[in-house]
Amino acid sequence: MNIKKIALFGNPVYHSKSPIIHKIFSYITNIPYSYNKINVSNKNFNIIAKNFFDFGGYGANITLPFKKKAFYLCDLLTERAKLSKSVNVITKINNKYLLGDNTDGIGFINDLKRLYIIYKKKKILIIGAGGAARGIIPPLLLYNNNIIITNRTLEKAKKISKEFNNLGNIKYISNKKLFNKKFDIIINATSCSIKNKLPNLFNNIINSNTFCYDMVYSKKNTYFLKWCLRKSKYINDGLGMLISQAAYSFLLWHNKMPSIKLSIEIFKKINYN
Ligand code: ATR
Repeated sequence: MNIKKIALFGNPVYHSKSPIIHKIFSYITNIPYSYNKINVSNKNFNIIAKNFFDFGGYGANITLPFKKKAFYLCDLLTERAKLSKSVNVITKINNKYLLGDNTDGIGFINDLKRLYIIYKKKKILIIGAGGAARGIIPPLLLYNNNIIITNRTLEKAKKISKEFNNLGNIKYISNKKLFNKKFDIIINATSCSIKNKLPNLFNNIINSNTFCYDMVYSKKNTYFLKWCLRKSKYINDGLGMLISQAAYSFLLWHNKMPSIKLSIEIFKKINYN
């Protein structure tokens, strides 16, 4: 049987849980495919990714810092990829063209649904203005939420809010002006948790009903979630989102949706014991 050859491109990729997640999908759907991590340098991304597809590659996931490069590499793009201007999944179609998609946003929204977080007309604070924020802003705005974005480098928050304000209500704010402001949902979209750091924030922005989401997945609570727990008990990390975005990649490659709930259960059994 000819199994599909799929790879994850990024730098670094050694820490990635995606191969385990795809093994789980393969197991529960009974669809075999190969899924390997490929660590590439910034300079070589385009050539190595192209070679991969020229020599039998069927699909790819793209992680940091190449989502933008992947956007420009593809011949065709889905609407979601165009909106976020970044690509985290590629599939080869008609054995010829590279189609780029972005499943980060839908993975995130799907996780909020799984957690029964009402995701319409909410006041949401997004901390961070890099690729992670970019992926979730379009779908959150399409659901009519009010977004306030803040970032250590305020210029980047300003740029993003301008770029997306045709999709809905998004404003930027400096950290100083956040004092005493209240939100329904606070999302940490910075890379702080990967580096065991905490973004600089006033702790009066959280109350006992605020839902706090860290887009980073970690076995133990991240510094951000520990900080949130001092005020609110509603916290969640990015595991559900990670598995959801992977499931939508799987759907693109195999035309079948694996069970996200079952995959999360199996993942936790494998990783948390
Ligand atoms: P990307 O390639 O997606 O932009 P990144 O450079 O790691 O990823 O940064 C992601 C986000 O985390 C950025 O908003 C960054 O803030 P800056 O724009 O000011 O660099 C934010 N970030 C990273 N480290 C941070 C820290 N120690 N405190 C606050 N924000 C931080």
